[in-house]
Amino acid sequence: MQAKSIIPFFYVLLQCHFWMMVIASDKLDVVYHWKQLEYEWPSNDTELLFPGYKQEDNLPLGLEITSTRIFVTVPRWRRGVVASLNYFYRNDTRRSPNLIPYPSWEAHQYEAGSVPEIISTFRIRADRCERLWVLDTGFTDILDSPEQQAPPALLIYDLRDDRLLRKFVIPEDQRTPDSLFANIAVEDYSCEDTFAYLADLGGPGLVVYSWKSEKSWLVKHHFFQPDPQAEEFNVSGISFQWTDGLFGMGLASTNDGYSIMYFHPLSSTMEYSVSTKLLRDPERATSLDNFHEFHALGSRGRNGQSSVSFLDPNTGVLFYALASLNAIACWKPRNMFKIEQQDFIYVDNVTMVFPNDLKVKISLDFKINEISSFLDCEFSCIHEKLENARNVYNMQI
Ligand SMILES: *[C@@H]1O[C@H](CO)[C@@H](O)[C@H](O)[C@H]1NC(C)=O
Ligand SMILES: *[C@@H]1O[C@H](CO)[C@@H](O)[C@H](O)[C@H]1NC(C)=O
Ligand SMILES: *[C@@H]1O[C@H](CO)[C@@H](O)[C@H](O)[C@H]1NC(C)=O
Ligand SMILES: *[C@@H]1O[C@H](CO)[C@@H](O)[C@H](O)[C@H]1NC(C)=O
Repeated sequence: MQAKSIIPFFYVLLQCHFWMMVIASDKLDVVYHWKQLEYEWPSNDTELLFPGYKQEDNLPLGLEITSTRIFVTVPRWRRGVVASLNYFYRNDTRRSPNLIPYPSWEAHQYEAGSVPEIISTFRIRADRCERLWVLDTGFTDILDSPEQQAPPALLIYDLRDDRLLRKFVIPEDQRTPDSLFANIAVEDYSCEDTFAYLADLGGPGLVVYSWKSEKSWLVKHHFFQPDPQAEEFNVSGISFQWTDGLFGMGLASTNDGYSIMYFHPLSSTMEYSVSTKLLRDPERATSLDNFHEFHALGSRGRNGQSSVSFLDPNTGVLFYALASLNAIACWKPRNMFKIEQQDFIYVDNVTMVFPNDLKVKISLDFKINEISSFLDCEFSCIHEKLENARNVYNMQI
């Protein structure tokens, strides 16, 4: 357990059209933004079912974009959170759309003696097969009196009818009292043989889940550990120490049904890789002989700690957020991972402070031959309110 400061925030979702690998900071547009989140209450009676609701406790973190909806997670930082997973429709023309709890209001409601279907999720992922993978930490009241209300679990929904297809509780021997499952990557080349990679920043460790066998296994490696020399973060003048392990993950197809996973701990400036051919083999992945199957690629340099990353399957470009530099950067895996080969796409010390989630989507408006050079991407980021010191919380993990 360690004390953590957590960044206070506003929330912005940006949409961008940019020329690949060219700095295009003037081409990013903000499409949605919120000063405070509002929910789409169906009636005043519904509000009575959430007596603890406090608007200011509802702070967004993760996002996912499907063809019709944008999903937003609201981890249970404090008691006043209504629903930890929500959405709004992409055709909503408001700049700050109200959130609708997913899959229903009931799925987030506390009733005497029971916890809701979804407790507290940080990040989620929609796959090619119309499924939404929700990584539920089971961890609540994070800023005040943290409580592990239920073991961390993976919930998988059918996006066509919002039905819960499956719930998988992460087995006890694959987690520790310090575990926090904050990031997920999904390898969905086959809808029947899909794999989910669940990053535990506290373990630290990587839990690999097989949809087909309905089993998971824990992979451990030194490269998942935080680097003691990269535990100091300086975010826009606020300095704090975090010791977080495995965090950002991106999957690059190797065209043989497997991928290279690019990954990094949060408290680190290094990028690493490993083949999912190893990770998907429960015996080899958990064997102590796996050391040399993991590769150190290179460094992002001073203050180069990265939170989330995302590999755009259409261009093969790895995008990642630079937590201490208020930036989104990218790198093409065919290049060496050197600082000179990494481009900043967007840097802004006001509107991109501590970016927290990132997804890249090809715009359907572009013709096929333009897809490799144009992207339509949407970011979420968290803004720091520097002038308000009360907003610097202590987070116990
Ligand atoms: C809900 O409550 C608000 C304020 O308490 C009131 O103005 C409004 O008429 C109520 N709506 C319904 C449908 O009862
Ligand atoms: C927005 O999209 C949703 C889902 O595709 C649809 O049900 C709804 O009717 C649309 N609303 C408008 C105003 O077009
Ligand atoms: C972070 O800032 C503090 C003071 O604000 C400074 O002493 C320290 O060297 C900085 N660390 C890094 C890694 O830049
Ligand atoms: C933005 O912040 C970074 C890191 O704190 C700093 O290096 C850079 O000079 C700042 N840029 C501007 C334009 O203020």
